Amino acid sequence: MTDLLRKAYDPEEFRQQAHRLVDLIANHLKDSYNQKLTSVLPWKEPDERLEHWRNELETEFQFDEFWQDTIEETIHIHHPRYMGHQVCASIPIAGLSEMLNGALNNGSAIYEMGPVSTAMERVVTDWLAKAIGFDEDSAGILTSGGSLGNLTALLAARQSQAGYDLWQKGHQDGFHPALMVSAEAHYSVARAVQLMGWGEQGVIKVPTDNHFRLDPSQLDACLNQAREQGLSVIAVVGNACSTSTGTYDPLTEIAEFCRKNNLWFHVDGAHGGAAAITPKYQHLTRGIELADSVVIDFHKMLGISALTTAVLFREGHRSYDPFNQKAVYILHEKERELWFNSAVRTLECTKNMMGIKVYSILRTYGPQVFIDYLTTCYDLGKEFSTLISQSSDFELPYEPETNIVCFRWIDPSLPLEEIDRINADVRKTIIESGQFYIVQTKIMGRTYLRTCIMNPLTTRKEMEDLLHLVSSTAEKFSGKNK
Ligand SMILES: Cc1ncc(COP(=O)(O)O)c(C=O)c1O
Repeated sequence: MTDLLRKAYDPEEFRQQAHRLVDLIANHLKDSYNQKLTSVLPWKEPDERLEHWRNELETEFQFDEFWQDTIEETIHIHHPRYMGHQVCASIPIAGLSEMLNGALNNGSAIYEMGPVSTAMERVVTDWLAKAIGFDEDSAGILTSGGSLGNLTALLAARQSQAGYDLWQKGHQDGFHPALMVSAEAHYSVARAVQLMGWGEQGVIKVPTDNHFRLDPSQLDACLNQAREQGLSVIAVVGNACSTSTGTYDPLTEIAEFCRKNNLWFHVDGAHGGAAAITPKYQHLTRGIELADSVVIDFHKMLGISALTTAVLFREGHRSYDPFNQKAVYILHEKERELWFNSAVRTLECTKNMMGIKVYSILRTYGPQVFIDYLTTCYDLGKEFSTLISQSSDFELPYEPETNIVCFRWIDPSLPLEEIDRINADVRKTIIESGQFYIVQTKIMGRTYLRTCIMNPLTTRKEMEDLLHLVSSTAEKFSGKNK
């Protein structure tokens, strides 16, 4: 044992460091909430930031300065003027579970390597499955993100529809799998398809209605056309909700179509599937309980730190289908179907102690905290869209249903290309100023500002301030005062 290792493993050194870091984090949260911290994202070009951290490594190490700098230099998701990508303002004690995870480092691939997180994972996935309307036969797992969750569910779909042991035998002649999904789907669905080797033809895009929802009246035609092309359509994916516009597909109709045609029904509820557990917004996910598989990200609308994703199967035994692999040194054949060896059901071998992150919040605040988080953020989205619709400076491309609100500054006297350019410049200027963090998207080929109210501490004041700032910045760029 070297002196350095003795110091690095010293519990008393850790105790002091942890107390100091927790104080810095708590101060940071306070400064974010009360906006003493003025910049949501202290802007630097990537190369400049790289230079900063290269140089920092060369300076004399000071514990507090290092961590304070790390906190200050980065994006502040807990700031009420953060309205950007769909990563939640995590409930702070999620950070304590992360600390425990790092300190105990239970690998959790098999029961013995993570006995507590394994049991907790079972409790929280059972709880969520029941809360969205699945029955006792259901089961689920936790995995590292919605993208991996979609892949995991679609691997099960593929196996269930193949009619032979596809895992062992690979794709056989005459089986050209494809799935149907709206053009609004998150790119991870297409990525999963390409990863499984189905090629570009494996994604059949079903047209949407004018609210960007999959149009169920188009499903028959899409299915027939795909079959004529020799494709074996195995599944339909419903968005709950879509990433760009936050709209929910008609899940009940899709479920009925899948039942009639014997197709797997997967719901990508990474963002909005959790609405199913809230009394106020569960109508949006009506039909989710009919899905064969559902993905829900705890790190989007359930207040847990990233990455923590549930993949839920209505028929629990399907959860063993995605990775039908034997690895004798870790998974004994007779144990394959035992729920407590996480690695048989997830792509990860070694896995974070994800169950603890969810369980600890469930234990501390009860399920109501998840309901309150989503409901508050969706309510704020509604309030924001009402504010937008009251001003002739802005256009809403559709009536938002969630906390994802897209809009843009308009001036009817300007060409559409010019309005696109102005909105893109407005966003760039605003985020570089640090005053707000918002994103942008393309809707029907035009540029829109896209906001996701991810922080329940955001108020009407921040939303009004953002609209004033967008207007005044856009007017400057348009070269005229309206
Ligand atoms: C609908 C939807 N599905 C999947 C994902 C991917 O989730 P993750 O970032 O956790 O991989 C996202 C991310 O924004 C999403 O919005």
